[in-house]
Amino acid sequence: MLRAIGDGSIGEFLQQNPSAKRFVEAPKPSPASFAGQEFWGVNAFVLVGGGGERTAVRYRVVPVAGAGGTLGEGELEGKKETYLFDELEARFAGSSSSSSKMSFNLRAQIAEAGDVTDDATVLWPEERKVVELGLIELDSMLGEEESAEMQKRVIFDPIPRVEGVEASEDPLLEMRAGVYLVSGRGRRAA
Ligand code: HEM
Repeated sequence: MLRAIGDGSIGEFLQQNPSAKRFVEAPKPSPASFAGQEFWGVNAFVLVGGGGERTAVRYRVVPVAGAGGTLGEGELEGKKETYLFDELEARFAGSSSSSSKMSFNLRAQIAEAGDVTDDATVLWPEERKVVELGLIELDSMLGEEESAEMQKRVIFDPIPRVEGVEASEDPLLEMRAGVYLVSGRGRRAA
């Protein structure tokens, strides 16, 4: 339930929070496929080198084959709500050819001194350096039973908790980790 803020209207909330307004008003076209989507992380992380040097980054996951298209109003008509997941299933079904894979480049946009690293709503200038970190290839989906078990058991933690990769000072990260733990434990217990 939405809690009342000021006169309680969403309009007032958006007037007082321009970054939320910008997000709400930005166009959100429906993609043709997950495989053609770019996924840009908004929370910053800090990579720590062997000598202790610290570099703030934001991850980007970008399709190797280039960005795919989006669907217009007409093209969406008649599609099932699950069309993106159905397309994945068809893509991976029983084939080992390279076109049945989804391949993404894992990249990192690198902050420069003075860039805001503790606020996910503040973009870094587009001219910031972006470096290649690796390749992500997805080529299959879990079977129905295994998938149901994983969905019940897996709890996503936005903080990696591995040596060399630290959460930035962005307060969203700790908060998200806490919320997801509560949610995930509830799901496990259900
Ligand atoms: C930068 C902002 C955020 C990003 C990028 C983000 C992204 C995500 C992702 C990727 C997942 C996992 C989905 C999956 O397992 O398939 C998730 C789960 C979830 N998110 Fe967020 N999220 C954000 C902020 C928030 C906030 C502010 C809240 C609530 C206060 C929230 C509540 C949840 C909950 C309850 C789940 C489900 C956790 C579970 O049951 O495992 N998220 N989010």
